[in-house]
Amino acid sequence: MSTTLDTTATAQVAATVRRLGGGGPRRIAESAGLVITHGEGPYLITDTGQRLLDFATAMGVAAIGHGNPLWSRAVAGQAQRLAACVLNTSEHAAYLERLAQVLPPGVDRVALYSGGAEAVEVAVRLAQSVSGTRHLISFSNGFHGKTTGVRFSGGRFADERAALGVDWVHTLPYPRCEAHDALTYGSCEEDGAAALAELDARATALDGVAAIIVEPVLGTAGNRPPQRRFLAELRRLCDRRGWLLIVDESITGFGRLGCNFAVDWFDVRPDIIVLGKAIGGGYPLSAVAAPGALWDESLFAERSATSSSYGANPLACVAGIAVLDVITAHGFLAQVNRVSRRLSEGITALQHESPFVTGARGIGMMLGFDLVDPGTGALAGPELCLRLFRRCLDEGILIVGDVPEVRLNPPLILTDDHAGEAVAALRRALAG
Ligand SMILES: Cc1ncc(COP(=O)(O)O)c(C=O)c1O
Repeated sequence: MSTTLDTTATAQVAATVRRLGGGGPRRIAESAGLVITHGEGPYLITDTGQRLLDFATAMGVAAIGHGNPLWSRAVAGQAQRLAACVLNTSEHAAYLERLAQVLPPGVDRVALYSGGAEAVEVAVRLAQSVSGTRHLISFSNGFHGKTTGVRFSGGRFADERAALGVDWVHTLPYPRCEAHDALTYGSCEEDGAAALAELDARATALDGVAAIIVEPVLGTAGNRPPQRRFLAELRRLCDRRGWLLIVDESITGFGRLGCNFAVDWFDVRPDIIVLGKAIGGGYPLSAVAAPGALWDESLFAERSATSSSYGANPLACVAGIAVLDVITAHGFLAQVNRVSRRLSEGITALQHESPFVTGARGIGMMLGFDLVDPGTGALAGPELCLRLFRRCLDEGILIVGDVPEVRLNPPLILTDDHAGEAVAALRRALAG
């Protein structure tokens, strides 16, 4: 079914969002020009009845797919009992217990919030409070959110940062792995030595560093893994210099890499972990996990210093428990690993078959590739990206791909058959 099919109702929805929505409209929604009425497992269904494999998952949020019965029963049942409460609830206690079972040892005291950027703000403030210094080092193509404090932690708003005189956020190059694809990444032996040397030198010129914040795999920048031993070396540097390491697992957490967290995959001990997106399976939920000693040393030890209206909301807690029930079920992560291998094989083959595809990469269900213009060999321009993105939609798959750095964030519930269907759709859409 063609996406050029444009009903009046579809056009009206887009027009209303454009007319009454604040801020610029969401680029990918404008590019797709579709209206979604509901979801079923790994599929989104449009108002014209088209079924799309959802490889965007609201940028990783819908990790357990759409309409999961366990999750929807839990949320609906809780909505009838108690949706908000400022006093203690058993749902809050139960959720903290469940989270502590999957989090890395020691990093198990958790504050709950409702959005990723909010959690990043708290993680940074925690590090600043404990260290008594303000400087934060981040990576230039990292992304951690768009609130007042953290929007400067990637390279994107550098001019605004300079204009506002924000002088405590320092962005440095991230050592991306360029030499390995999704199938060979496990054998990458590079350690980001040049980036670490630059970071060390820059930090030496500062009057102390509160923390380094890092995405273990760059998400918004195109699902790009680092040179594989970089995070372990970064940990070593932090230990040597007494800096805190904040690992932002907003995308990588809760099974996306085929294990609970990226810190497990890379075998790295974090000081503070930021959790978001998949954590609530669609219910707005985020978290900051840190050792008890850090919380106790910080200004957050004071009562109510970091509580928020939605933090520990009982609806969010039961949603979070349902997500954990799904991803910790026997065999679930084994299936993620098996199916993601099939996807990796598919995109690796695609880069040899398609004139538009290069740079296939990723780990687990966090995959990506670049779109190129076969005429010039350069990254595809906006018009070509849009054309290929819409061809994917026409073939039945939604990718984060109206830009040259394509991201594939499929739902983790994908089966082998779904993976086969996805690869076939991409192959048809991206054929020469
Ligand atoms: C790694 C990472 N951290 C933080 C955020 C911000 O999360 P939110 O959009 O929920 O504020 C994002 C959002 O894409 C992200 O990718």
